[in-house]
Amino acid sequence: METTLVLIKPGGVARNLNGEIIRRIELRGLKITGLKLLNAPRETVEAHYAEHKERPFFNDVVNYLCSGPIVAIAVSGPNATKAIRMMMGATNPVEAEPGTVRGDMALTIEDNLVHSSSDPEAAANELKLWFAEGTVG
Ligand code: PPS
Repeated sequence: METTLVLIKPGGVARNLNGEIIRRIELRGLKITGLKLLNAPRETVEAHYAEHKERPFFNDVVNYLCSGPIVAIAVSGPNATKAIRMMMGATNPVEAEPGTVRGDMALTIEDNLVHSSSDPEAAANELKLWFAEGTVG
């Protein structure tokens, strides 16, 4: 059993896609074990993307995540991290397969709708940032 993190980014919330994205996660057989809508504090977003601090898009991605409400979701199940990554599709939506969230609902990397943890270790670190200890499960 694994728990991973999904963030529905401001573009997804603004387009009322929360229900559709959560529906797909639940249909797959994964369990929502944490869920909240929030205006993300800038320092949390900066910590979340810390490994990309030196990359040219760092400010753009941080500004985007702070531009409106987001939904943070903890998702649990067998192989949850890989299952969710596959379900969300390639980071750049134009390369994402049809049938994935990005392949069906997004077009540009600047507005790629969702974040999902890259591996179980990243998931554990990211979950700590977005959910207070003891609030997931
Ligand atoms: S990945 O999945 O970590 O390998 O993707 P990577 O290409 O390294 O990108 C890391 C995150 O930065 C976002 N990103 C961008 N945002 C805005 N503008 C541009 N040009 C851009 N390039 C990359 C990308 O969506 C990844 O964030 P998440 O939240 O994981 O999608």
